[in-house]
Amino acid sequence: MLATFLLASFCQHGAVATAEPYATQASNYILQEGGNAIDAAITASFALAVTYPTAGNIGGGGFLLYREPEGLSWFLDFREVAPQAGHPKMYLDEDGELVEGASTRGWRAVGVPGSVFGMWEAHKLWGSLPWKSLLQPAIELAASGFPITEAEHKRLSRLRKTLGKDPYARRSFYKKDGFPKEVGSLLLQPELAITLRRIAKQGEKAFREGPIVKAIVEASVAGGGALAEEDFANYKPEFRPVQKIRWRDLTVLAATAPSSSGLFLSQTLGMLSQFSLGAWGWDDPRTVQILGEVEARAFSVRNRWLGDPEGFDFGVAALSHPTFIKKLGAGLSPNRFTRPLATNFPAPWESSETTHYSVVDSKGGAVSVTTTLNSGYGAKVMAPGGFMMNNEMDDFATKPGFANQFGLVQGKYNQVVPGRRPLSSMSPIIVLRNGQVDSVIGSPGGPTILTTVLQVFLNRYVFNMTPEKAVAAPRFHRQDLPPTLKYEANRLDSKTISRLRALGQPLQKIRKLGNVDAVFRDRDGEWIPVTDPRW
Ligand code: DON
Repeated sequence: MLATFLLASFCQHGAVATAEPYATQASNYILQEGGNAIDAAITASFALAVTYPTAGNIGGGGFLLYREPEGLSWFLDFREVAPQAGHPKMYLDEDGELVEGASTRGWRAVGVPGSVFGMWEAHKLWGSLPWKSLLQPAIELAASGFPITEAEHKRLSRLRKTLGKDPYARRSFYKKDGFPKEVGSLLLQPELAITLRRIAKQGEKAFREGPIVKAIVEASVAGGGALAEEDFANYKPEFRPVQKIRWRDLTVLAATAPSSSGLFLSQTLGMLSQFSLGAWGWDDPRTVQILGEVEARAFSVRNRWLGDPEGFDFGVAALSHPTFIKKLGAGLSPNRFTRPLATNFPAPWESSETTHYSVVDSKGGAVSVTTTLNSGYGAKVMAPGGFMMNNEMDDFATKPGFANQFGLVQGKYNQVVPGRRPLSSMSPIIVLRNGQVDSVIGSPGGPTILTTVLQVFLNRYVFNMTPEKAVAAPRFHRQDLPPTLKYEANRLDSKTISRLRALGQPLQKIRKLGNVDAVFRDRDGEWIPVTDPRW
């Protein structure tokens, strides 16, 4: 049976960009039914949990940035927290060494998921349509199925030896012979449909207590995990300050800690203001060099100082103060490569999971959401209710001074403490021009999220690219450690490569950086949803 929402026709009731066409369609349908941007975002979120199980989730967490039509803006943090049984040394052996894979694979890697609580909170405060109707498309997609794409099939094939070994994931995604279900065959997820129906009926209560929670905790205990029923009863989505960054005639709304996004953007844009990138041009070696430098410097602050805001015992606001940013940017030069202090680090593991969606409605409301299981399919364990569980615990500094799976070397403010959130790079932003929403931008990519979002912003607002070009243009990434500048094909011309090499900058060409889903206002005031052509 074709899901009802797929029969709808479209006209401009707003705009949606997500990483997966069924989710986009479901979300558009809600706008068309008179829903606002929050309603449409909630629908996208649950639909993605069905159609994009590598990152869409109910077993993970994320950040929601909302700009109301009346002009108020909000940051709702529904990121995972460390379970009560968690502690700073939970991933170390008796000798204090990191136990390989403990924070990335299996139930011990799982943080208390916040997605259902976050969506419920957003619905209660700002939603306009009934909760049940927002979950209906996801329920239909889980119960009636949808064709498995080639990309999904590839992801599942790659993970045959890990994800394919989990009994529930195996039943959902794999055939009896252990290979993924065929491309084009219907992916039916009956257990997930039951879970979603329960959430539709009971709201967040379904995730506070009762059979869903009991089944998760049982599986977690059996798998050596740390989750307990009280963790679900006690989870709280939090409202955090929105960081407002002024840039020429624009204001960027961004997330604050435990996201590093607001600080990163205020520092990088602040440091960049002493240079004329626009006049130099997008592909000028000086532009690449300076951009790489400011990225690395902002990362060094992020990694050392940030974490869950409850753990700060210093004035974090100082870090985005112009005086601090001036100091941070001291000595920047297009002719100098700054080598980071430490050089001993493992190569980071590459992945492009997590997902972002952007929604605007016809009344001027805008929602920017980045949500994640952390790695693709999270900890590679599925809850008995048919959904994947996160491995967000790896975003904590599991051993301060040592790199995590993204090569991030983080510090004492980001250690595992029960009830606290790990530091994140997720960077949902909303850009305002003359007090009106001008774009909604975000991406997956671990630490490369920060540099991806920054570069899409610069492409659009400094290099004046069209929305499509701003997203499609090749990108590069630098973080504090490792010092390597990673770049996509066609981002650096041979002149730039020689110049950077001469300065001592290590370079590495990589296939893809980020997967942006954004909405931009064009010159005529029309909304242009843009999905990343890389995927
Ligand atoms: O919150 C974070 O920064 C990470 N958990 C995001 C992970 C991610 O984007 C995975 N994709 N590469």
